[in-house]
Amino acid sequence: MIHHQLGYPIVEIFEGKVRLILPEVSLKSSIPPKTPVFYNPAMARSRDIGVLFIRVCEDLPGGGLSVCDALAGSGVRGLRYLIETSRVGHLVSNDISREAVKLISVNVNVNGVSDRVTIENRDANSLLADYASRGERFHIVDIDPFGSPANYIGNAIMAVRGRGILAATATDTAPLSGVYPKTCLRRYGAISIKTEFYHEVGLRILVGYIARIGLTYDLGVDNLLAYRELHYFRCYVRVEPGVRRAEKTLDNIGFITYCSTCMYRRSIPLVDAALRSSPSLTVCPLCSSNLNFIGPLWIGRLASPSLCRSMVEEIERTVVTDRDHITRLLSYLEYEASMPPTYYTLDRIASKLRVETPSFEKIRDIIIGEGYRFSRTHFDPKGFKTDMDPITLLELLRRHLE
Ligand SMILES: C[S@@+](CC[C@H](N)C(=O)[O-])C[C@H]1O[C@@H](n2cnc3c(N)ncnc32)[C@H](O)[C@@H]1O
Repeated sequence: MIHHQLGYPIVEIFEGKVRLILPEVSLKSSIPPKTPVFYNPAMARSRDIGVLFIRVCEDLPGGGLSVCDALAGSGVRGLRYLIETSRVGHLVSNDISREAVKLISVNVNVNGVSDRVTIENRDANSLLADYASRGERFHIVDIDPFGSPANYIGNAIMAVRGRGILAATATDTAPLSGVYPKTCLRRYGAISIKTEFYHEVGLRILVGYIARIGLTYDLGVDNLLAYRELHYFRCYVRVEPGVRRAEKTLDNIGFITYCSTCMYRRSIPLVDAALRSSPSLTVCPLCSSNLNFIGPLWIGRLASPSLCRSMVEEIERTVVTDRDHITRLLSYLEYEASMPPTYYTLDRIASKLRVETPSFEKIRDIIIGEGYRFSRTHFDPKGFKTDMDPITLLELLRRHLE
């Protein structure tokens, strides 16, 4: 019956607690096709994290939340938020594709939630602009496109209620991380170069871009959770109305200066970089090479540690695809959240100092022995972070490893 309605072979599965009718081809191909409707089983983890986020986020009202899944595909993401969090009152599930909307309708019906879902078949930008102009703003707007979310952010941020959440996915990780600098400059207005901490650069450019768009509307932004996984970046930011909030947000936007000769790096708030032009901003204090400027990007926290902890605790009560993986990811995020921007990698240290690759234990002992903090990072299995300033660290590493 459903097969007849949709006109292509289907399968029925459960993701989380949501029953889903999907194109059979989505589960059979190694790269899920865009037609007839896109569904990527590998992104279930990202949706699990979204469910955990909404279940514990203290910034949102306890119930009756309005959610817009603006690029919904099969509808899975919004349906999971609706069915698995008990906080969502109403969902707008939208997709520009007619086939997608037919499938969303089937999935809404098989889950028996049609009274709580409005299905729309529109361009996401015009949908979001309309809802915002009617004053029907959402507690949560989710932007999950193919590739870059950049051209949806303006309308999305305007469609979020005060202190609501804008969640966005970016799969254009190569431009963001410095592989295609011109594309990054064009899409995000930011300079990205290849560094050993390229994943972090990409994620911070994404969050920084959202924050800068917010500023143009006198909206402040605080980043609650941002991470890198598989082939994508994902962030959840709180939108905070008001000029004062917007000005405070400016403190979290800046540049990273980086020396590709000796690995020295430093983050500088935009305001300081704009108001001062001293040689210390352009010349490496360690080796006198010219410094690279990366950004503008987000230089504030990448996650709220208490939010990450609550999400880890919530995993026990949630149906997730890979409990261990998500626990590990969120635990890393919790610990590295209070560290300064950028990380170092064992391989780069070894190649720069022309020594054998050091162990984490050795580096950790050097750092902790000097009274500083050390953490691994979710960005890279061979990466680490520290609050030790780079000059002291690089000199100490030279002394201990060479
Ligand atoms: C990556 S898929 C969404 C995946 C979905 N959120 C999930 O979790 O499975 C992107 C979707 O955006 C839709 N789309 C592309 N351009 C759009 C636009 N301008 N407005 C609304 N939807 C659009 C596509 O049809 C596609 O279904």
